[in-house]
Amino acid sequence: MSEKNIRSAMNTMTHGVYVIGTHADGKYNLMTAAWLSQVSGRPPMLMAAVSKSHYTAELLKASSRFSVSVLTKDQRETALKCGSVSGRKKDKLAEVDVEFTEEGLPFIKGAAACIICEVTSVTESSDHCIFIAEAVSGQVFSGEALLYREKDFF
Ligand SMILES: Cc1cc2nc3c(=O)[nH]c(=O)nc-3n(C[C@H](O)[C@H](O)[C@H](O)COP(=O)(O)O)c2cc1C
Repeated sequence: MSEKNIRSAMNTMTHGVYVIGTHADGKYNLMTAAWLSQVSGRPPMLMAAVSKSHYTAELLKASSRFSVSVLTKDQRETALKCGSVSGRKKDKLAEVDVEFTEEGLPFIKGAAACIICEVTSVTESSDHCIFIAEAVSGQVFSGEALLYREKDFF
């Protein structure tokens, strides 16, 4: 099977659309992520695959906590704003409606839910860092979750 076929097949997979909120060394950032999923029930744990080159990977290595905003169907624009430019170049918090958790982590106003995670381990998977984290708190708001399909975004 050619690499193109493998990519095409994998691109038929659906994911949610999330925004990872970080705060480290006085710096804040927001990054859209689709490669994020639950990996354990008790305790509730998830993994986030973040490109090694992204600012978010740098901030996550400097801080053990992050927020996950579960975007709603009407937040596609927010996904694009947080997913098309690096926080190294632009203050994305100024581009979208943002709130802060008790822990001081940024999250997306109007998200369907917000989950606070604490990193327990980091592994490398070729070009991505895999952050394994325990979900330490969560809140459900309202709205239906946005689904990621490659053709809707790229
Ligand atoms: C819908 C969507 C999903 C994305 N999913 C991921 C992902 O799971 N992992 C990742 O590393 N980048 C993902 N990206 C790309 C990053 O969000 C993007 O490169 C971002 O600008 C990196 O920001 P940062 O440098 O501020 O961390 C996604 C982008 C979009 C639009």
